[in-house]
Amino acid sequence: MRARLTNIIFPRWYSFDGLRWKGHADGELAGQVTRADVYDRFLGRLDEVNDICAFLGTMLGAARAPDAGAPRVLDAGCGTGRLLPTLVGRGWRVDGLEPDADYRRAALAREPTVNIRHQHIEDLDVTAGFELIALVNGPLGYLTDPTRRGAALARIHEALSPDGCVVIDLPDFTWIRAHYTPPIRQVARFGEVVVTRAPRHGFDQPGVWLHTDVIERTGPGVAETWEEVVPLAIIDAGALTHELASAGFREIRRWARWTSTSPMETTFAPAVGPRLIVTARR
Ligand SMILES: C[S@@+](CC[C@H](N)C(=O)[O-])C[C@H]1O[C@@H](n2cnc3c(N)ncnc32)[C@H](O)[C@@H]1O
Repeated sequence: MRARLTNIIFPRWYSFDGLRWKGHADGELAGQVTRADVYDRFLGRLDEVNDICAFLGTMLGAARAPDAGAPRVLDAGCGTGRLLPTLVGRGWRVDGLEPDADYRRAALAREPTVNIRHQHIEDLDVTAGFELIALVNGPLGYLTDPTRRGAALARIHEALSPDGCVVIDLPDFTWIRAHYTPPIRQVARFGEVVVTRAPRHGFDQPGVWLHTDVIERTGPGVAETWEEVVPLAIIDAGALTHELASAGFREIRRWARWTSTSPMETTFAPAVGPRLIVTARR
């Protein structure tokens, strides 16, 4: 009979910051599908990587002398590293930063040439001197406490070189709520292992969007369920503009999409899609 490995067997709660997951640690089921594999299959959109990296290139180009050498770029909250090979391929000096040990391991496997700091953005070394710090697909939103978020933005500001650029990409919950449809259950097959992901949304405190994924993984010798609970800050364009300005940033611009060639007229314009993309300079 198939064993049912549940959080009764692995009853721990793993936690860093807001993110919590329970009942499962990678490596305990050697050779099986990992949390990072699940992330990549369901959420790790590779189709947009070139557009994102081209956008970052445009942001870098705007403030650089042609003979300035390879720029220093930080992919902050790099996750499983989907951007890293393309960033390195552009000839940039790239660092990663990722607090989640499983995702960081996957990112290192994907791009072994990059130094990936195992830390939170709010602990970033302020003497780093990056020309561009990118927080793509939500890392800043994991900081649900505005005071900690403000401190993180101040660190990012200090860790940039003069004129350096920060790129922040967050879910635009104003748009998402106005166009809301409940998330659907997804299924993926990894060889003989079948993984399902059942997301749900809720609120448990003001200003926080609670995203929960129930992941089920079944296959020969394994049947296991775990839950990932991610509290995400609901930050609108106005609040983000204010937080960036308070941290000392200037030239705060909002972009409708990665392929936009000019910014939106104002950061306060109505949302145009599910993402809030904002750039600012030191
Ligand atoms: C949705 S993933 C996006 C990953 C990657 N940037 C991408 O575009 O594929 C958000 C990432 O932010 C990371 N994260 C959470 N809290 C963070 C923090 N305080 N500082 C930096 N990264 C954080 C998470 O571990 C997760 O890998």
